[in-house]
Amino acid sequence: MAELRWEWARETDATVGPWQGDVDFVAAVATWLGDDRRTVWTAGTHELAIGMVCLTEHIRMPSPRRAAGGRWGYLGHLYVRPTFRGSGIGEELVRRVTETADDRGYAKTVLSPTEPSIALYERCGFTRDNLHMARRR
Ligand SMILES: CC(C)(COP(=O)(O)OP(=O)(O)OC[C@H]1O[C@@H](n2cnc3c(N)ncnc32)[C@H](O)[C@@H]1OP(=O)(O)O)[C@@H](O)C(=O)NCCC(=O)NCCS
Repeated sequence: MAELRWEWARETDATVGPWQGDVDFVAAVATWLGDDRRTVWTAGTHELAIGMVCLTEHIRMPSPRRAAGGRWGYLGHLYVRPTFRGSGIGEELVRRVTETADDRGYAKTVLSPTEPSIALYERCGFTRDNLHMARRR
């Protein structure tokens, strides 16, 4: 997973060098993964991971009509190595997420798509929802 994350960053940031098994980075990803709310799927073999996706669980704030709250999921970090794209691996990863979200009874699963990935998510049952806003420091 650390290597996949590194390769993804390299695609958009020319200052990121080739992956050389940076142990501090592996440890940072392991710490991130240690959060019980996260589930990560990878595609590939033990020798070569070729894709990944993450589902993070969130708890709704209880409301007067639903004191028990409820759970929903955030799909993130969908990535497939460039040479393996276009053969359905990304869709397969997304479908693992949606099946798990349904099994867990999540009220909804949300994500922040890039423009080129919208068709893929639509094939998996996602529809456009509210306008997304962000404030960056
Ligand atoms: C998105 C991604 C995981 C898809 O993986 P994949 O194995 O090629 O997926 P599939 O073969 O199941 O489906 C291909 C679909 O990916 C989408 N796609 C194509 N190029 C894309 C790109 N550069 N970036 C994002 N999505 C893309 C299209 O919807 C395409 O469907 P289409 O061929 O009908 O247009 C892969 O393109 C990727 O890793 N992109 C870079 C990271 C990224 O953009 N992640 C999504 C963030 S929301």
